[in-house]
Amino acid sequence: MDSLSNGSRSVWVTTALPQFPELQEKLETEICVIGGGIAGLTTAYLLSLEGKAVVLIDAAGIGEGETSRTTAHFFPPDDRYFEIEEAFGAEKARLVAESFQQATALVESISRKEQINCEFERLSGYLFSLNPAGYDSLDKEFEAARKAGVEIYKKDRIPGLSFNTGPCLQFRNQAQFHPLKYLNGLIKTFQRNGGVIYTQTRAQELSRHDKIYQVITESGAVSAQAVVVATNTPFNDRLVMHTKQAAYRSYVLGIRVPKGSVPRILLWDNGDPYYYVRLTTPDEKSEHEILIVGGADHKVGQDEHPEHRYDEIEKWTRQHFPMAGPVDFKWSGQIMEPADGVGYMGRNPMDYKNVYVITGDSGNGMTHCTAGAMLVTDLIMGRNNSWLDLYDPARTPLHGMGEFLKELGNTVAQYGNWVKGGDVESPEQIPPGEGAILRKGEQKIAIYRDREGKIHSLSAACTHLGCVVSWNAAETSWDCPCHGSRFSVDGQILHGPAAKPLEVVQLDE
Ligand SMILES: Cc1cc2nc3c(=O)[nH]c(=O)nc-3n(C[C@H](O)[C@H](O)[C@H](O)COP(=O)(O)OP(=O)(O)OC[C@H]3O[C@@H](n4cnc5c(N)ncnc54)[C@H](O)[C@@H]3O)c2cc1C
Ligand code: FES
Repeated sequence: MDSLSNGSRSVWVTTALPQFPELQEKLETEICVIGGGIAGLTTAYLLSLEGKAVVLIDAAGIGEGETSRTTAHFFPPDDRYFEIEEAFGAEKARLVAESFQQATALVESISRKEQINCEFERLSGYLFSLNPAGYDSLDKEFEAARKAGVEIYKKDRIPGLSFNTGPCLQFRNQAQFHPLKYLNGLIKTFQRNGGVIYTQTRAQELSRHDKIYQVITESGAVSAQAVVVATNTPFNDRLVMHTKQAAYRSYVLGIRVPKGSVPRILLWDNGDPYYYVRLTTPDEKSEHEILIVGGADHKVGQDEHPEHRYDEIEKWTRQHFPMAGPVDFKWSGQIMEPADGVGYMGRNPMDYKNVYVITGDSGNGMTHCTAGAMLVTDLIMGRNNSWLDLYDPARTPLHGMGEFLKELGNTVAQYGNWVKGGDVESPEQIPPGEGAILRKGEQKIAIYRDREGKIHSLSAACTHLGCVVSWNAAETSWDCPCHGSRFSVDGQILHGPAAKPLEVVQLDE
C-alpha cells in the first residue's frame, strides 16, 4: 500500500511481512489494538505476555504505515533536553531520558529474548552544527542532557568522517535496527501468545456501551474492555489531539557507499534545514552499504512539488560524503510534531476510562512508541508508571503555547483555500500523471489525470474537517494541509485522522 506506492520505496520494504485475513465477523476480546506499526504491535505483544486476549486490526498491512518509512535511529529527543528542561523542568527532562533509555533497552532485550534477527546494534550518535551559530545550543544541550542522566561527551569533531564537522556531542549507547524485521519477530511471538491479527480492516468508529467498547469496521466489529488507538494519529478524536500536534513530511535517500567507507554511527545536525544519517547493510555478502540520509521536512499538503527536496538531500550528501554512489532508494513519510515537544501517550483525552492513545512521536517514534507501549500496558494492568503525567495526552500545551498558536494559525489559514480559485480552469490543462484542483461553483474538485489520460475526480473536501486537499506530486496523492490526512488518487485513505475516503464525484454532474 502506502509504503510501496509511486516509486517512493523505502530500504526496509524488501522484507515481506506475513498477510492476515480481513475481519468479517463480530468478535469479543479483552483488548483491541488498532494499528499494526511499532506502537500497536509492541503494545499488543506486551499485553499478550501479561496473558491478555488481544485482537489487533490494521487498515492496511502490518508495518505498512510510517514504521516502514522510518530511518530507525534510537536517538535523543528531537526537541533538545535543554528545551524540555526550560519548558517542563529538570525532573521531567530526566524522565524523558529515562523513558528513552528504557525503551531502547526493551527493544534490545526483546530482540535477544525472542531471537529476532533485526540488526539491532548499539552505537554512538553525534549531534553537530556546521554553522558556528549552533555551537551555543550544543553547549546548552550538553549541560541539560548530562543533568538528565544521559551518557554524553563533548568532542572537537566527529571521528572517522572525511569532513570536519566542528564541535559535536557524542551520545553513547544509542542504537539502530531494521524496523520491519523487528515487527516480523513481534508478530510471531504475539501469535504464539494467542494474539490474533486482522489486516485490510479499518476502524471506522469507536463507541462505548456501559463498560464495553465497540470498534466498528467496514465488515465486522470488535467488542473489548479496552482499546488502544495506535494509528500514528488518532482517527477517533475529531479535534482535541489534532490541535496539539502538526503533521510534517520528511524525505529520505538511500545511497550506495563502499563497505567500510563511512563509520557506523548515527548523525544528526542542528541546522535549518537539518539532516539525519545512518548506515544499513543490504546483506552480509554485499560489497556496499546504504547510507540513509533524511531531512528537508515541510508541513503536509503545503508543497505540491516536493521532488526538489530529494535533490537538496542528494546535494548535501555528495558534498559531505564524496564516496556516495547511485541512489538506490528514495521515500518520504509523515512525522507528527507535538506542540510542546513532548509526545502523547496514555489515556485518550476524550474518554478517560479505557481508551488509550500513542501519538505525537516527532522523529523519535522507535523509542517513543516503545515507551508508549510500556506505559499503556502498565495502565491497562493497573500499575503505576512514573511517565504518566509527563506524556499525558490530555495536557494543555502551555509550555508550547507559541508553537501551538503558530500551528493553529497555519491550520486556520488553510481554510482560506475555499475562497480561492482552482489551480486549473479545465481538466484538459492537467498533464498526464498530475493532479490539480478545479473550482466548479461552490465546489472544489480534486482531479487526477492518470498516465493513460483517464480522469479521476474526487471532492477536494477532506473528510476529517473539510479543508481543501492539495496535490502531492512526489507521492501521487492528495494531502490535507490542516491535520495531515492523505488520500490516494482514488480517494482511499493513506493516512489519518480522516476515517472516510474522499467522495468520488462526476465532472459532468
Ligand atoms: C522519514 C521518517 C524518518 C523517521 N526517522 C525516525 C528515526 O530515525 N527514529 C525514530 O525513532 N523515529 C523516526 N521516525 C518516526 C517513526 O517512524 C514513527 O513515529 C513511527 O514509525 C510511528 O509508528 P506508529 O506505530 O505510531 O505508526 P505507523 O507505523 O504509521 O502505524 C500505524 C498503523 O495504523 C494503521 N491505521 C491507521 N488508521 C487506522 C484505522 N482507522 N484502523 C485501523 N488501522 C489504522 C495504519 O495502516 C498503520 O499500519 C521517522 C519517520 C519518518 C516518516
Ligand atoms: S486532516 Fe483535518 S481537515 Fe483534513
